[in-house]
Amino acid sequence: MKVMVVGGGGREHTIIKKIKQNKSVTQIFALPGNGGMKDDATLVDIGAKDIEKIVQFAVENKIDFAVVAPDDPLVLGAVDALEEKGIKCFGPKANAAIIEGSKVFSKNLMKKYGIPTAEYEVFTDKDSALKYIETCPIPTVIKADGLALGKGVVIAMTRDEAKNAVISMMEDKIFGESGSNVVVEEFLEGPEVSVLAFTDGKTLCPMVSSMDHKRALDGDKGLNTGGMGTIAPNPCYTKEVAQECMKTIFLPTIEAMNKEGRTFKGCLYFGLMITKNGPKVIEYNCRFGDPETQVVLPLLETDLLDIMMAVADERLEEIEVKFSDKSACCVVMASNGYPGKYETGFEIKIDSNIKADVFVAGAKIKDNKVVTGGGRVLGVVCVEDTLEKAVNAAYENVKHVTFDNAFYRKDIGKRALDIIKEK
Ligand code: AMP
Ligand code: GLY
Repeated sequence: MKVMVVGGGGREHTIIKKIKQNKSVTQIFALPGNGGMKDDATLVDIGAKDIEKIVQFAVENKIDFAVVAPDDPLVLGAVDALEEKGIKCFGPKANAAIIEGSKVFSKNLMKKYGIPTAEYEVFTDKDSALKYIETCPIPTVIKADGLALGKGVVIAMTRDEAKNAVISMMEDKIFGESGSNVVVEEFLEGPEVSVLAFTDGKTLCPMVSSMDHKRALDGDKGLNTGGMGTIAPNPCYTKEVAQECMKTIFLPTIEAMNKEGRTFKGCLYFGLMITKNGPKVIEYNCRFGDPETQVVLPLLETDLLDIMMAVADERLEEIEVKFSDKSACCVVMASNGYPGKYETGFEIKIDSNIKADVFVAGAKIKDNKVVTGGGRVLGVVCVEDTLEKAVNAAYENVKHVTFDNAFYRKDIGKRALDIIKEK
């Protein structure tokens, strides 16, 4: 079987390494992939948003199965375009990917179907948003409607911060058209949990839960990033919470999407906050999270491609999706300066004593060497019997990876370990 994976980050590298384990796979193409994946996939120089070229490549190369991993091509309709040419795909169609592509859509969906989430108001013009902010409860949360590279959310601790966020999104258009409409929502408090789930629109199989570390610096300080590390499972996600989520959030969401004529097939990501009043949805993503995937998929015992093909064929109920009861930790090594400005082009050296998975997110090939090529460069991932061992192992193995200007958080997993100790 020839498989194609659209995307080029650590998530895609993890998916590719997992798909490689399926014996029927003869070749894997990454569009565009990155230099750090060259031993695991054939790199194809086609950007993840170039739908026309992606489809052309798939047809010309007789691709048997395509995995569309990032949000952009999903929202742009890559799956629709591939399926039109008879290429089987894992991932939602555009009319379902809107669950991530538009916060206004997802908030209205949750309100209509009674799915627990923060209270909110939608604004289509700046003046009414500013007027609302004069009197709304503070802190408040301002969200750009559309995709904004994970940066379209501002937690405003004061009215002025809230106003500035509205002005920069709606007037200065810092996120382009994504900020034409904004959601102003209630500030929620509680631990956050990420849950990814396979679904074919009929059956939903939640994966092991995880915890992201979004801020750039230790102690959850600094700017928001795409994610500086993850652990799985998340100790806040108890059996009871899981049951409640299934009943009040997960199943109602797939039913709501079906009722709207927008059946969701693929990986649905639930960003949850466990509040005093129960679990609530912070955000939906229409895809695997990154770096969540880097800790979740290594714990998956069932063959990933078998699951993905079952999702595509709408026969997920036939598959038993099993996870190991071990724990995993991913420490992201980034380029110093990220998420702001940073330099790239430094050789990445991994010594042979490493006993971890390395999933490469931002690398390129220069003079036959793999060099840094992005903000988040790679994830060092270890799986062990306990979370404590997994965290220690990941930090032990970070030492075996070197590149100039490397930086990483020193406290990935600390919060989770503290919670486990308190129990
Ligand atoms: P999002 O891009 O929607 O995941 O938001 C980024 C981060 O902002 C989340 O992971 C939360 O930490 C925080 N956040 C988003 N919405 C809220 C909210 N209503 N209350 C408190 N924090 C929030
Ligand atoms: N790590 C969060 C995300 O993938 O959106």
